[in-house]
Amino acid sequence: MRILLVGFGFLGRELAKALRNKMSLLIRIDSDFRVVGAADSKGYIYSEDGLNIERLSGITKLSEHEDYKSGREAVELINRDLCDVIVEATPTNIKNGEPGLTHIRLALSRGIHVVTPNKGPLVLAFRELMSLAEKNNCDLLYEGAVAGAIPIFSLARECLQGDKIIRLSGILNGTTNYILSRMFFEEIGFEIALKEAQEKGIAERDPSYDVDGIDTACKIVILANALMGRDAKINDVERSGIRGITQEAMSLAKKSNYAIKLIGVVDKRLEVSPKLVPINHPLCVHGTLNAIHLETDLAGEITLVGYGAGKETVSAILNDLITVLRNRSGKSPKKS
Ligand SMILES: NC(=O)c1ccc[n+]([C@@H]2O[C@H](COP(=O)([O-])OP(=O)(O)OC[C@H]3O[C@@H](n4cnc5c(N)ncnc54)[C@H](OP(=O)(O)O)[C@@H]3O)[C@@H](O)[C@H]2O)c1
Repeated sequence: MRILLVGFGFLGRELAKALRNKMSLLIRIDSDFRVVGAADSKGYIYSEDGLNIERLSGITKLSEHEDYKSGREAVELINRDLCDVIVEATPTNIKNGEPGLTHIRLALSRGIHVVTPNKGPLVLAFRELMSLAEKNNCDLLYEGAVAGAIPIFSLARECLQGDKIIRLSGILNGTTNYILSRMFFEEIGFEIALKEAQEKGIAERDPSYDVDGIDTACKIVILANALMGRDAKINDVERSGIRGITQEAMSLAKKSNYAIKLIGVVDKRLEVSPKLVPINHPLCVHGTLNAIHLETDLAGEITLVGYGAGKETVSAILNDLITVLRNRSGKSPKKS
C-alpha cells in the first residue's frame, strides 16, 4: 500500500519516526508498504517508489528535503490516485472542517482509505463521510481524534460487537484536567492554574477552545455518532466550561472526598459541564490524563484511562494504519 502523509506537523513528524521504527512489522503485514509522499500547507515531496523513511523521519520541516516541491497541494496527489491511504493530520477546524474535509471527501470518493486524528471533518460531517467510505468500499478510521492514545473505537469495534453502549462519560480534555488537578492538589485559583498551564505549553494563549468545553463537546459529538448511532451536531451539546470554578468550591468538594472535573456525557442528552466526581471513582484521573467510562448492557461498566494528546497519539494512528493494511491484505499482524 502507498501511504501519503497529509500534514507534517507535530503528529506527522512523530508518525514518520514510528513508521521508521516499525517498518519491519509493517512490511510483514504488507510487503508493498511504502510512504510515497508527505505534504504540508506549502508543498509536498513525492516518490512513487517510496520515500527514504530514515531521511523523512530525520527532518523537522518538509522544506528541508531536497525533493520538496513548493507551491504544490496534497489534493493533486489524491486526485491523481497516487496513493492508497492518506493519513490526514492537518489542523482541526470546527467552523468548516477545512482543509481536512476536502482531503477526506476527495480521498474517499476516489476509493482511497483515510486514517485521521483530525476532529473537524468528523464533527461536521460524520454520517456523510461514513456513507461515502461505505459506498466506495474504503476504511475511514479516526482513533486518534478522541482521547488520543485511548483505543476507545477499536475496543467498541472489536470487543463490544454484541454490546449496546447505554451511557458514556469522560474526561476528554487534558488541558482542563491539568488546570482542575492543580486547583485540587495545590489549592490555587483558576487564573493561576491557567497561567501555569500556559507557561508549560499545556494551554493555548487563547484557552477558550479548551476551558469553555468546546473541545470536549466536539469529542462528545464524535463518540455519540460513532458508538451510539446518533446523528448529533455540536449545537446539540449543552455546554458549560470551567472558568467559574472557584478555589472555594474545589476545597469544599475535596473536604467531602470529591474532585470537580469537566465531564462530557452521552446519555439521552449530550452535555459538557463541571461535575463532582468521587475521588475513588475510576474516572477521577489527574494531570493531563483522559478517561472514558462506558456503561453497556452486557459488560456493565468499563473505564479506559490514558493520554489524550501528545506523541502517544501516534499509537492510535499506527494501529488504524495497520487495521487498513490487515483489512486489505487478509493477514494478521504478527508480533516479533
Ligand atoms: N498534537 C496532538 O497531540 C494531537 C492529538 C490528537 C489529535 N490531534 C489532531 O491531529 C491533527 C494534527 O495535529 P498536529 O499537532 O500535528 O498539528 P500541527 O503541528 O499544527 O501540524 C499541522 C500540519 O498540517 C499542515 N497543513 C495545514 N494546511 C495544510 C494543507 N492545506 N495541506 C497539507 N498540509 C496542511 C501544516 O503545514 P505547515 O507546517 O506548512 O503549516 C502542518 O504540517 C490536528 O487536527 C489535531 O487536532 C493532535
